[in-house]
Amino acid sequence: MSQQPEKFFITTPIYYVNARPHIGHTYTTVVCDAIARRQRMLGHDTLFLTGTDEHGQKIERSAAAAGKTPQQLTDEVSGEFRALWDRLGITYDKFIRTTSPEHKRGVQAMFTLLQERGFIYKGSYTGQYCVFDELYADDNSPGTPCPVCGRITETVQEENYFFKLSAMTEPLLKLYEENPDFIYPETRRNEVVAFVKSGLRDLSISRTTFTWGIPVPGDPAHVIYVWLDALCNYATAVGFGSPDPVDQQRYAHYWPANVHMIGKEIVRFHCVYWPAFLLAAALPLPKQIVAHGWLLFEESKMSKSRGNIVRSETILEVLGADALRYFLFREIVFGQDGSFSFDALVQRFNSDLANGLGNLASRTLSMIQRYFAGEVPYPSATIAHTAAEAYITKLAEETIVEYKRLFEAFQFSRALEALWSLLSAVDKYIVETQPWAVAEKEDRDSRSRLATILYTSAEALRIIAVLAHPIIPDSTARIFTQLGLGDIAKTNLNALRWGQLNVGTRLGKIEAVFPRADKSAIERMQKMEEDRKSAADSANGTTAVAEAPVSAAAIATPSATVSAAPNSAAPSGPNAADGPASPAAPAYITIDDFAKVELRVGTVLTAEKVQKADKLLRLTVDIGTEVRQIVAGIAKAYAPETLVGRKVVIVANLAPRKLRGIESQGMIVAASFGEEGQPALASFLEEVPNGARLK
Ligand code: MSP
Repeated sequence: MSQQPEKFFITTPIYYVNARPHIGHTYTTVVCDAIARRQRMLGHDTLFLTGTDEHGQKIERSAAAAGKTPQQLTDEVSGEFRALWDRLGITYDKFIRTTSPEHKRGVQAMFTLLQERGFIYKGSYTGQYCVFDELYADDNSPGTPCPVCGRITETVQEENYFFKLSAMTEPLLKLYEENPDFIYPETRRNEVVAFVKSGLRDLSISRTTFTWGIPVPGDPAHVIYVWLDALCNYATAVGFGSPDPVDQQRYAHYWPANVHMIGKEIVRFHCVYWPAFLLAAALPLPKQIVAHGWLLFEESKMSKSRGNIVRSETILEVLGADALRYFLFREIVFGQDGSFSFDALVQRFNSDLANGLGNLASRTLSMIQRYFAGEVPYPSATIAHTAAEAYITKLAEETIVEYKRLFEAFQFSRALEALWSLLSAVDKYIVETQPWAVAEKEDRDSRSRLATILYTSAEALRIIAVLAHPIIPDSTARIFTQLGLGDIAKTNLNALRWGQLNVGTRLGKIEAVFPRADKSAIERMQKMEEDRKSAADSANGTTAVAEAPVSAAAIATPSATVSAAPNSAAPSGPNAADGPASPAAPAYITIDDFAKVELRVGTVLTAEKVQKADKLLRLTVDIGTEVRQIVAGIAKAYAPETLVGRKVVIVANLAPRKLRGIESQGMIVAASFGEEGQPALASFLEEVPNGARLK
């Protein structure tokens, strides 16, 4: 009886639909795609899941701003994600949407299960809340400043369902202790352990301040907290909560996931909350949570609100999917932040793909075409076989082993480096053995020697293509066809060895796999991105996926709360992300109310860290008529030196107040976004003089 293949289930985060896909999202997705492709080549029963996260106040507001229903907006943007994944050749097996009936049913089943097991209670929370940071300041008394930014907190009160996260402190610590690989890499693991050790508070898992979500079973005035909703996707996608026996079987087969791949900013949700929910529900835990770093562009995290995103489509159009994929794996050290630039992309493309792999393929194949009428020649095992061939054979065999080790340890960049060392060795071998010169000699030994050289080169090319296939699927498949071989994805990786290329194999049609890119490729891509940005800017305010208005989060002052940033903060206190809007927030303000806020443009003259306050920077800002000293809670997002000379917007008529003993004479305007309430400074595309007022 044949053995059941091993199953492998990998997931990406499900992406929010209030931002269109960019290469940050692409990064996570192609990493999972390559892992899934490799697993399939190992013969494993692989399930690759991705999808979109469609509920929550953020989405509700984005839709309202665009004059759409939330469902219309989510349908539109979710469709864009799928279209992009299809263009990129992403081999996802299942695309989950959190608005789908299967998911809603599963989330409600999870809620009920947690309730039945005694982990949910209804409670009321009264406490201090910082609207700017979307953070609960816990036990502080009214009027105290936010521990993060120093702004005065507000008192909020809400009745919610709570999850007994506090009861999970010990079980979670035990889990991390007993499963050292549960969180990868180790730096993230250490952060999580330290966070849990500091003690966990119960977590609010329902909201009554908006309706775009999954109703709490039996209490529809509440919608389920978006993160509980979203995290459950991993299980609902494989059938959790379905009464159908086929779904139940699928769930039993695939769950738990082998790998949840995520970006580092959502580690806490995946490594603390998700296992806590599962432990409480007595369900199996995922085997591993793997966090990668951020893709940076111009030194800061690529994100829509910073206006520094790069679309994958631009690169696809100019250089093709494999160029982008190769760059992301080769250039970014997995687990760390890495920078993207068009220059680096084109440089990598030319050196490693066009001049590297592409050149090896075309050289080798065209010589077989020319000298052996397009048939893979017979390599000599004796007279024409020299130490040079023995070296390439040995190196190829070692590379197969080393590449596997590095790939499986998520060290993709090093894995490719090892593979490209083999490629360089083959290139050098060709240069040194000079097959074109050997071809000029007519004797039998020379013919045999030529056959050996070309067989060796072609066999190395085949092995390189097979190993690189999960990362650059399209070009390697084409190389395989040119080698006269079948479907590369069907290669059994377990059995990959030197010498499997059959003598006599007829080559396919030879074509360049990677045409070289010149300087104009960079210019074209830059221009495409600029055109897109200006199109988006001129449509600003009407785009379906507009971010929270820039000024809104920033001008939330103690007295005037124009609460807009609906999204969440670093989970802390009794509650976490998706904090409630201030209950006192008025629906509208008049133009006169707005005119009370004096927003002015200034230039940062100096910037430095505030001692013992890791979030604060002390800035001096020239606002035309005077220089102001401003203390701002933006140190986590901006290195001081990157701010000097930068144009900013400040609230110039805010009453001065002291933060860490330093007087702040105004406030910097920034958008707050993402689950950790990251700031992004307001800026202009045009030159604006200092002192200009925003009206
Ligand atoms: N909806 C949540 C996730 C819920 S999972 C149960 C969310 N969505 S998101 O749209 O903000 O996507 C975040 C993820 O996209 C990151 O964790 C990361 O995987 C990817 N990235 C988005 N921007 C990125 C970079 N600039 N760099 C690297 N990855 C990025 O959070």
